[in-house]
Amino acid sequence: MKMEIDHIGIAVRSLDETLATYKRLWKLEPDHIERGETDKVTEAMLPIGDAHLQLLEATEPESPVGKFIEKRGEGLHHIAIRVRDIEKALDELKRQGAELIDTEPRIGGGGHRVAFVHPKTTHGILIELVERQS
Ligand code: CO
Repeated sequence: MKMEIDHIGIAVRSLDETLATYKRLWKLEPDHIERGETDKVTEAMLPIGDAHLQLLEATEPESPVGKFIEKRGEGLHHIAIRVRDIEKALDELKRQGAELIDTEPRIGGGGHRVAFVHPKTTHGILIELVERQS
């Protein structure tokens, strides 16, 4: 199965402040900003090569990203791996006994199909699978 890094998700307290920092340090500017209602998060995508840094700011303290920051502070939240066929990738993970947060794909940022794998399975890193809808 061909895999690539789709994006790296980083939890931040302030999207505005973080965007200003990345712009100042590396002249990086977002090519996509979206407010996700389901996950109560605003995401900004900064392109680096074929991948993105995904900056995540909670829109509510009780959201997953809000709780993450409360518990662990700002920092690496998840790594997203791009797959061609997300159903196939999930079936393979189920067969291998992986603990999945999403057993079926759902629609994530940018309209892409996504599913999360529990960090228990992956030695502490939350992994997101992404099948891009071009
Ligand atoms: Co993500």
